[in-house]
Amino acid sequence: MTILESIESVRSSFRADLDSFLTDQREIEQLRSKYFGRKGLLADLYNEMANLDADEKPNAGQAINALKKELQGEFDRSYSKNVSHNKNVHSDQVDLTLPGIHFQNGSIHPLQQTLDEIKGIFKSVGFKVAYGPEVEDDYHNFQALNIPKHHPARDMQDTFFVEDNIVLRTHTSNVQVHLMEESDPPLRFIVPGRVYRNEAVSYKSYCLFHQIEGLVVDKHVSMSDLKGILVYFVKRFFGEETKMRFRPSFFPFTEPSAEVDIWDEKREKWMEILGCGMVDPNVFENVGYDPNEWHGYAFGMGIERMAMLKYSIDDIRLFYQNDIRFLEQF
Ligand code: DAH
Repeated sequence: MTILESIESVRSSFRADLDSFLTDQREIEQLRSKYFGRKGLLADLYNEMANLDADEKPNAGQAINALKKELQGEFDRSYSKNVSHNKNVHSDQVDLTLPGIHFQNGSIHPLQQTLDEIKGIFKSVGFKVAYGPEVEDDYHNFQALNIPKHHPARDMQDTFFVEDNIVLRTHTSNVQVHLMEESDPPLRFIVPGRVYRNEAVSYKSYCLFHQIEGLVVDKHVSMSDLKGILVYFVKRFFGEETKMRFRPSFFPFTEPSAEVDIWDEKREKWMEILGCGMVDPNVFENVGYDPNEWHGYAFGMGIERMAMLKYSIDDIRLFYQNDIRFLEQF
């Protein structure tokens, strides 16, 4: 191969490489050193020239110099078109058709939203918010609430035991007892919190969920006060037009007891939303309140259940899976 043929072959190989010129920094550096590096193809040409006869050197030298200038120019043009253009954008070069940078916003978990809304409604009619322990002794979770050991009512709530007499609370009603033990009446509280049940996990039950307990104790409190508060709550939470009914029921810690259902337009049936009743005199005696002097009402509702009814969610497990496609909808 003559020197001129070598020059020609470097030129055409450079053109081919430049065609696939990519913006990846590593590839650019590889291309640069392949041709312009100390051991690059241009350097090879200069070495080859050194072996030529003296009379051939000037021509060959000029040709290589020209090639070098040419390749350098093409490299620089291609570089500024593909790379530096993107890096130093002048304001008049902003491409307004490029898609913007998408920021993913988080959102408040639907359970927290539901809890906040329920809290807001009760606070607006004078309820304070209290909290209590999730790991509880048998006395506060059961006995003080008129559920003695071996009473069949215990079967209503499958219990996780931590030790013989220590349980994960099965309901927020345990805090009723703490509130009354710790302060004198009158009381007007709601108690949100997490509760635990040893149940098979399915679309409708989970091993943990959340409840809100309500407790009002005062001198002249009656079933109609309870009804009034719950009607007010249901209309605000589910909407003014919501149909609801009170249905007699049984809870060991209230007498009389009732459950509240709302009419679910979509499912076309009554859905139970909460339990309630007048505080049983035995409970008052257990905490040292005089049942002849004080009366009270209590209620308890599941937060998941409220959210599921309000937003037509049909699987309780969705609240705990952290699936963005679910959470994004709230
Ligand atoms: N603790 C009951 C449960 O978890 C719910 C309940 C019913 C709470 C009636 C109350 C009540 O305060 O009065 O099933």
